[in-house]
Amino acid sequence: MRLEGKVAIITGAARGIGRACAERLLAEGAKVVIADVDSARLSETAAIIGTADNLLAVTMDVSRKVQVDALISTVVEKFGHLDIMVNNAGIAMMQDFLDITEADYDKVLSVNLKGAFFGVQAAGRQMIVQARGGVIINMSSINSGLANPRVATYAISKGGMNQITSTAAVAFAPYGIRVVGVGPGTILTEMVEGSFIDSEEARRTVLSRTPLGRCGTAEEIAAVVAFLASNDASYITGETIYPDGGRRVLNYTVPVKE
Ligand code: NAI
Repeated sequence: MRLEGKVAIITGAARGIGRACAERLLAEGAKVVIADVDSARLSETAAIIGTADNLLAVTMDVSRKVQVDALISTVVEKFGHLDIMVNNAGIAMMQDFLDITEADYDKVLSVNLKGAFFGVQAAGRQMIVQARGGVIINMSSINSGLANPRVATYAISKGGMNQITSTAAVAFAPYGIRVVGVGPGTILTEMVEGSFIDSEEARRTVLSRTPLGRCGTAEEIAAVVAFLASNDASYITGETIYPDGGRRVLNYTVPVKE
């Protein structure tokens, strides 16, 4: 129960990694606000993972600053304060580099990068007013620093996100607010099964770049988020941590078992 008494927001929490983070933070004693653009899926998830006492579900779009600001106000109204902000909502578009249109570029960057920036800014502003510290966690990716031109807009957005993390960490350090990133490798969620792994060949390619020999689970990422959100990580700020099965340090490839 490392997070007893804490209030956390997790965006993109209707499913996948965000939902796993919500379940883990609830289990660690936090009150949790799950936010997502998919209101049907959000209500389904809310009914399963929490109660009216410890969970609030808010339908919103992170790419709209006004909705991000409103989310923070709603949370403070309901739970009194905000201690942990997890900017997790994200989208990926798989396409050839030369096929990316202005609309595609704007779409991915406005959810992943602009959404995270204004999430960090609004949470930081609230935490500074409260004067009780806080932790902001940005869901980056292994693609923030590796080149896969099939997801260029996604990779660009996550590269930029790491700089949101480091610049905000320095800006907010005087207030005792930590800002950290988590950069997962390949985690089996609907996002990955719908785009990154769409064939047996793609699966083998991923595993050939994964020394631990398997994809990760959303729960493994949630465990890292819970650690970073807790006082166990009290001296970590500005860094992005990579739970990636060893991909980032791998040179060349590893053999793939069946
Ligand atoms: P997912 O696609 O399963 O879940 C993403 C959630 O974000 C969905 O519930 C979706 O409705 C919500 N969302 C999308 N646009 C939104 C918006 N504008 N406003 C509010 N909510 C919105 O994806 P997954 O795999 O759970 O990914 C979560 C985060 O983790 C993303 O930021 C993703 O980039 C990151 N990530 C995922 C990896 C993976 O292998 N699954 C690897 C590295 C990073």
